Amino acid sequence: TIDQNSPPDTAFVRGNFVHSKENGELEILMDHLMEIDLLSGCIVTFEPADVSTFSSLHYLYKSPTSSDFITPGFIDCHVHAPQYSFAGTATDRPLMGKEGWLESYTFPSERRLSDQNLATKTYSKVVKRLLREGTTTACYLATIHLNSSLILADQCEKFNQRALIGKVNMDQNSPPDYIETTEESLANTETFIKQIQGRDSFKNGNIFPVITPRFIPTCSKALLSGLGRLAKKYDTRVQSHISESVDEVAFVKSLGYEETDAEIFQNYGLLKNSIQAHGVWCSKDDLGLMKENNAGIACCPLSNVYFASGILDLNICEEVGVNVGLGTDVSGGYSPSMLNSQRTAVVTSRVSNFSKEKESIDYKKAFFLATLGSARTLHLEHLVGNFVIGKRFDAVCWSVEGGGGGVDVFDGDTPEDIVQKILTNGGREDIARVFVNGKDC
Ligand code: GUN
Ligand code: FE
Repeated sequence: TIDQNSPPDTAFVRGNFVHSKENGELEILMDHLMEIDLLSGCIVTFEPADVSTFSSLHYLYKSPTSSDFITPGFIDCHVHAPQYSFAGTATDRPLMGKEGWLESYTFPSERRLSDQNLATKTYSKVVKRLLREGTTTACYLATIHLNSSLILADQCEKFNQRALIGKVNMDQNSPPDYIETTEESLANTETFIKQIQGRDSFKNGNIFPVITPRFIPTCSKALLSGLGRLAKKYDTRVQSHISESVDEVAFVKSLGYEETDAEIFQNYGLLKNSIQAHGVWCSKDDLGLMKENNAGIACCPLSNVYFASGILDLNICEEVGVNVGLGTDVSGGYSPSMLNSQRTAVVTSRVSNFSKEKESIDYKKAFFLATLGSARTLHLEHLVGNFVIGKRFDAVCWSVEGGGGGVDVFDGDTPEDIVQKILTNGGREDIARVFVNGKDC
C-alpha cells in the first residue's frame, strides 16, 4: 500500500512561462504545467496544461491570474558582496588614483570585514536583498579574508541562493592595512577552494569557488602565476576585472607590461574559463582571445557609466562570438537589481548608437543577457538560464494583477506587452515568489 504520509517526490508549477531561446528570442509559453523533482530541484516535465489533471496535483506554485508570468531567475555575473554596505553612496569619484573610489571607499570598507560578525551581518543582508530582487544566482567577489569569504558561502547556503564565490587576491598596490603577502594569498585561496569543494552544496551544483585576482594592478607576477596553477589543479573558474577603464589600462602599462590585460591573464593561465568584468577597452583581438579560452564578459553597464569607464560594444562582442552576461557590479554600480542592469544595458546601447548604423539592443536581448547569456558566461548553462527539462527550477514568479507595483495591465495587452511591461517597469513589488533549485526563497 502507498504511504499517504510520505512527502511527495515531485510538485507542480502552473502558469505562463517566458524565457530566452538559444538565439536570444523570447519564448512565451501560455498556461503550461511544469513538474519538479523536489529532491534535485530539476525540471522533470514541462508541457501545455491539461485541464483534466489539475485538482489532484500537489502544487509548488500556481499563478494567481492569467496576466502573471514566470521567468528564469536573474543571474548576476559580477557583484562585490562586501560593497553592498555602501551601495547608493560613494558615487563621486573615479575608480583609480590616490583619492579615487577604491582607495577612499572600497578598500577601507572591505578591510572591516575581517570582523566575522560584521561579515555575517553584511553578507546576510546582501544575499537576502539580491534574492528579493529576483537574482537566483550571483557571482560574488568577497574580500581578501579567508574566514569571511567562507561566511559568504554559509549565507548563500542558509538563504538558498546559487552562488559562485571568490576570496579576493591582492598582494601589491594596495593599502598597508588591506593587503596580503603572496604566500598568504595563495595558501588561503587553496584552503578556500578545498573547503568549498568539500561541501555538499558544491556537489549539488549550488555553490562554487572562483579564483579571484582582484585585477592586474593589485597582483604580483608571482601571485598571478600561483593562482594560474591553482586554477588548473582544482579545475576552477576564475574571475577578475579586465580592461575596465582608460586609467586602469594606463596603470597596467606603467607596471611595465607590454601586453593587454587579456594577454597577461592568458600568460598566467588565468584567462581560460574566466569571467571578466567590464572589458570596455578590450580590442577585437582581446575578445577573440577570450572566446578561444572560453572566457566571457560580465557587462556592468551602470558601473561603466558612473565611473565614466565607457560602454561595452555588444555588437562587436556578438560579431566575435564571445560570451556576455550582465552584472550589477555593486557597488561600482549602485543598484543591486538585475532589472536595473537590463534597463541600463538598453539605455547605454541606445546612447552609444545614436547616430550610427549599428543596431542597439532591446529588452529581449537584455533579458537574454541577464538569464541565458549570464548562465553561459558563468559556465552554468547545463544547470540554469531557461526552462528546459533536466535543468534546475530557478525562477521568479511575477504577479502584477493586484496593482500597487510597477505594472498595470490594460484590456488589449498581449502576453508580450505584459512581459515587456514587467521587464521595463516592473520591480520588487511585482515579485510574488522566488525559487532556487525548486525551493522557495
Ligand atoms: N577594479 C578593481 N577593483 C574593483 C572594484 O572593486 N570595483 C570595480 N568596479 N572595479 C574594480
Ligand atoms: Fe567590480
